[in-house]
Amino acid sequence: MAPAHEKRPGLDMARPRLLPDPVGMHLADLEAPPDWDAEFGFSGPLELEIGSGAGGHALEYCRRHPDVRYIAIEWRKKYARDTQSRGEKMELRNLRVLEADARLVVPRIFASGSLDAIHLQFPDPWWKRAHLKRAVIQPDFAQLLLDRLKPGGLFDLRTDVEDRAHSMLAVLEDAGFVNPLGRGTFHPYDPEEAPSTRERRYLTSGQPVYRARLRKPA
Ligand SMILES: C[S@@+](CC[C@H](N)C(=O)[O-])C[C@H]1O[C@@H](n2cnc3c(N)ncnc32)[C@H](O)[C@@H]1O
Repeated sequence: MAPAHEKRPGLDMARPRLLPDPVGMHLADLEAPPDWDAEFGFSGPLELEIGSGAGGHALEYCRRHPDVRYIAIEWRKKYARDTQSRGEKMELRNLRVLEADARLVVPRIFASGSLDAIHLQFPDPWWKRAHLKRAVIQPDFAQLLLDRLKPGGLFDLRTDVEDRAHSMLAVLEDAGFVNPLGRGTFHPYDPEEAPSTRERRYLTSGQPVYRARLRKPA
């Protein structure tokens, strides 16, 4: 029998269509920040999403805010390529999707003080102790994200995992992010927010979501 990874004639038709090449490599491969005005063809706020998954937040947020230049980084190729392709169909000129590990790319392509907002929604909780080091929010990376934000810039965090909510909030506040509601305090649900793909499920089921809106000191 042919190994499962071998191409089998006839099955391609049934597979979802995937863009053939990695998306956003012209940005992900850079060693230094690009000229974002030239990349987008217009100037305006610059925002980052880490782990955009199926793209629900990125696509809706970009549709609502055509003035914002939005970089969505997602390392799973199916999600990244699908979001890119849907963004193209929606004719979103303000979205770039990068198929990459955000921890490697963010330090290289964003200058200090260049981001207006960072969105991190429902990051993988990495349940196994041995995998915890893969979590996005670690003290060093939290410091780096703080550095990349402009003074007064926003960090938008959402998660459904209560203990990770508390631990991520503590790491971010220890790194120097300010919580306008008071240390350790979560933000109430704002119906005006663009929901992420995962969040839509919780909004329907009523499962709790822990939200924080932190600021870099002005
Ligand atoms: C639980 S999903 C949530 C997706 C989306 N934010 C949402 O709320 O629907 C977490 C996503 O982060 C992505 N991810 C985790 N670590 C990443 C990293 N270092 N760089 C890029 N993407 C990452 C995963 O592939 C996954 O799609």
